[in-house]
Amino acid sequence: MKAAKFAKFVLFINSLVPLAMLGYDASQHRLGTNPVEYLIRTTGMLALIFLILSLAITPARKVSGWNGFSHFRKMLGLCAFFYGLLHFTSYFVFDRSLSLKRTLSDTLARPFILLGMTALLVMVPLAITSTNGMIKRLGAVRWKRLHRLAYVAGIAGSLHYFLLVKADTRQPLAFAAVLSVLLGYRLVNRYSPSLRSKPAIVRPSN
Ligand code: HEM
Repeated sequence: MKAAKFAKFVLFINSLVPLAMLGYDASQHRLGTNPVEYLIRTTGMLALIFLILSLAITPARKVSGWNGFSHFRKMLGLCAFFYGLLHFTSYFVFDRSLSLKRTLSDTLARPFILLGMTALLVMVPLAITSTNGMIKRLGAVRWKRLHRLAYVAGIAGSLHYFLLVKADTRQPLAFAAVLSVLLGYRLVNRYSPSLRSKPAIVRPSN
């Protein structure tokens, strides 16, 4: 248990490294010629990476048989939400000048913004119900059902990225490919009784 706590602490510190680097670079005026674009793009990328990592936990646990992977899912998911929120805040403050009206009209005008909003909004109930109390209150079955929404966030986030890229789509396609493998694994595991492994036990964790 002590080892799991320490591993989670190490992961937490590491998750903050990109934020610290971003803050340091900003303080040194080293965010390039377009700091706002740099900030928005970096936080968006971090949100997507953490989201995909959180979705990789269950397949990694099932393939390896090591249940210790489960200790990291909650933190990775919360990091995805945190960077997603930072991404939206950067966009709202610097790109939309805190205007709800301009944000709404941009959301309706550009499908990739609508998809980004969808991804972030879907993550809200996941973040709210990530506490031990909420797991107990909802019950494991309902909690697991709700948390399948993480895939919706992943799909919306990947599509958001794909649609905003104008020329070289290799990177967004690579994210989409990883997501397809993870989702494909979950579906095969769910619907093929011969391949199905033991279901995960959702336990409140520290
Ligand atoms: C609140 C909703 C969101 C809004 C308004 C939003 C808006 C934006 C904008 C304006 C850009 C930059 C586009 C450009 O430079 O042409 C961007 C980039 C990006 N966003 Fe979002 N986004 C949202 C949510 C998300 C979420 C939840 C994710 C991840 C799950 C995400 C992932 C990305 C990625 C990966 C990029 C591109 C990074 C790069 O070019 O390296 N976004 N977003």
